[in-house]
Amino acid sequence: MKAAILGTGSWASAFGRHLCHKWGRVVLWGIEARQVNSINTTGTNPDYLGDVLLPPNMRGTLDLDDALYQADLLFVCVPSQAVREVMAKAAQSPNFQPGTPVINMAKGFEVTTLERLSEVIEEELDQAGCRNDHPVAVLLGPSHAEEVADEQPTAVVLAGQPGTDWACWQDKIAGPFFRVYTNDDMAGVEIASGFKNIIALAVGMADGLGAGDNTRGTLMTRGMIELSRLGIALGGKKETFFGLAGIGDMITTCISRHSRNRNFGEAVTKGEKSPQEILEGSIQVVEGVHMAKAALKLSEKLNVELPITKQVHDVLFSGKPPRQAMRELMERQLRPELD
Ligand SMILES: NC(=O)c1ccc[n+]([C@@H]2O[C@H](COP(=O)([O-])OP(=O)(O)OC[C@H]3O[C@@H](n4cnc5c(N)ncnc54)[C@H](O)[C@@H]3O)[C@@H](O)[C@H]2O)c1
Repeated sequence: MKAAILGTGSWASAFGRHLCHKWGRVVLWGIEARQVNSINTTGTNPDYLGDVLLPPNMRGTLDLDDALYQADLLFVCVPSQAVREVMAKAAQSPNFQPGTPVINMAKGFEVTTLERLSEVIEEELDQAGCRNDHPVAVLLGPSHAEEVADEQPTAVVLAGQPGTDWACWQDKIAGPFFRVYTNDDMAGVEIASGFKNIIALAVGMADGLGAGDNTRGTLMTRGMIELSRLGIALGGKKETFFGLAGIGDMITTCISRHSRNRNFGEAVTKGEKSPQEILEGSIQVVEGVHMAKAALKLSEKLNVELPITKQVHDVLFSGKPPRQAMRELMERQLRPELD
């Protein structure tokens, strides 16, 4: 069996490494020659995974047709805002064989269209005239690349369009350290995992202001409540927000030292650099920044209140001091917990 992965970053490398235990060939397609060369010559990807060794049945390529040649499964593992561009190229490849499922692993929405990434993928398949040839799914959940590369027990959710036996793929993707659950609520899984990074930014900002565990617990809980409100308005199921892609991923992202979104939020409070300058200094994607924009636009469109998201957005894009944002959240009109 051969798997093709679009991307040569942290998640593509760590997940690909896991797949190599079960799959004969795993090929990572990328646009960075240095990363591809490094994977092929040293069996490492130091830009993203330090000196973690990658197995001999993994290789990198700059040639998308080569990556897709005889691939049984295609994983999309690039930043959310690049999914359309890479999927457009893949869908047009002569080597993209009919029947190959496409599984998105990027977290987020497309900011310009406010679409879920599975919808973006479907549109690009449609554009290439092969919409009905490729079932689409997402594989999301609490899965820091560093820990998957370290073979720490991890569990994620595979949620796909109806009409495909995803349980069969679940079995092919799972491994001794990588447990895969199925869920038929693809929209809910995508919305939950896409937006939890905004709350991680908020927790990072609170940490940077010296807040304690009461504040963290409150932000995570109220954060999940506001995201589930948005998710339900967008067609997701409430229970999904309290599963792995929802509360599971949120806790992991908000408490972890590996979380770029939490760390980014903390860096913003230092005030040494603007959010834009911090972003420019990182080679790794910080998805929560884009998602704060997308979620706020959606909340206005759907008339759903997202108080934490709004404050994160204003700190990132309107120069509001984080301390003022925290004060405004605390001074909101008092209300019942459950509405
Ligand atoms: N890192 C994790 O722990 C983790 C875990 C689960 C999901 N994710 C999600 O996976 C996605 C990728 O994250 P990552 O951590 O691997 O990011 P990363 O920054 O480590 O790597 C991004 C990769 O995408 C490539 N890329 C960027 N723009 C591109 C473009 N226009 N065309 C082609 N390739 C492009 C880069 O060269 C790089 O190989 C994100 O949506 C992230 O939220 C990450």
